[in-house]
Amino acid sequence: MTIRIVGVVGAGTMGHGIAQTFAQAGFDVRLVDVAQPMLDRAQRAIEKSLAKLVEKGTIEAAGRDATIERLATSTTLDDLADADCVVEAIVENAEAKRALFTSLDALVRPGVLLASNTSSISITVLGGATTRPDSVLGMHFMNPVPLMTLVELIRGQATSDESMRTAATLCRTLGKVSVEAADYPGFIANRVLMPMINEAIYAVMEGVGTPEAIDTVMKLGMHHPMGPLTLADFIGLDVCLAILNVLHEGFGDPKYRPCPLLRRMVAAGALGRKAGRGFYVYA
Ligand SMILES: NC(=O)c1ccc[n+]([C@@H]2O[C@H](COP(=O)([O-])OP(=O)(O)OC[C@H]3O[C@@H](n4cnc5c(N)ncnc54)[C@H](O)[C@@H]3O)[C@@H](O)[C@H]2O)c1
Repeated sequence: MTIRIVGVVGAGTMGHGIAQTFAQAGFDVRLVDVAQPMLDRAQRAIEKSLAKLVEKGTIEAAGRDATIERLATSTTLDDLADADCVVEAIVENAEAKRALFTSLDALVRPGVLLASNTSSISITVLGGATTRPDSVLGMHFMNPVPLMTLVELIRGQATSDESMRTAATLCRTLGKVSVEAADYPGFIANRVLMPMINEAIYAVMEGVGTPEAIDTVMKLGMHHPMGPLTLADFIGLDVCLAILNVLHEGFGDPKYRPCPLLRRMVAAGALGRKAGRGFYVYA
């Protein structure tokens, strides 16, 4: 099936980046969210990101205008009925995602690829909420999507080879490099990353070091481009907590137990950059 129209569901941190990336690559994109303010915010963020790319000379002004023209937003899932592929990027909650996959399955044509941008939730479980588990897979983009090269492709128990091939081709068209991962909690990226972030939060809680000290150690000592606490703020502390819960429940291993300080910060609404405060304060 030729992919021309791409649906993106969820217009938060990841959804708007995914929508922008597909639109920049020439696809017609329909970005859907339950909340109109999130769509308005997404539109502003995309325009700001494109303006920066023009400023840097990465794209021409005409490319920016064409990208904006290819992008439509909506609060109605029905607008995705003629999509050739849908990427889901809603909250990291298995029940919410399962309900959405059931609705999408009933809406789009048979054979249309349903991809999830989940960081940790089982693709097999999401596929099980549809009548087309062979066409369900994980397309785990990295944040910020327009700038990050990697896409982790996750093969569920029933995902077909053809679906994996189509997704890998899509990634190449977007200028991304894909890596395949099996369907275990957290896949590759977050199974390796989240325990480090969690440990850094334990270190703050126990007074081993300030957030600045811990981030500096990891940046200057380990050559990480960004310290783990800055990265946690960037990802969203609610997203980090949701991923750690999936790892903890999925493996039953106490080493993945989310740090109590992380729980407390999320409960207090200190969600990181998107909330204006987390381990750091943002203007
Ligand atoms: N934040 C990151 O760095 C990052 C990186 C990779 C993957 N992810 C994954 O991407 C997904 C989205 O994360 P995010 O950080 O963009 O979240 P976010 O909280 O910024 O955005 C989620 C959006 O989904 C919308 N939404 C919720 N339920 C919906 C529904 N049923 N239909 C339509 N829209 C709905 C919300 O209104 C919100 O705009 C999650 O699965 C997350 O694990 C996040």
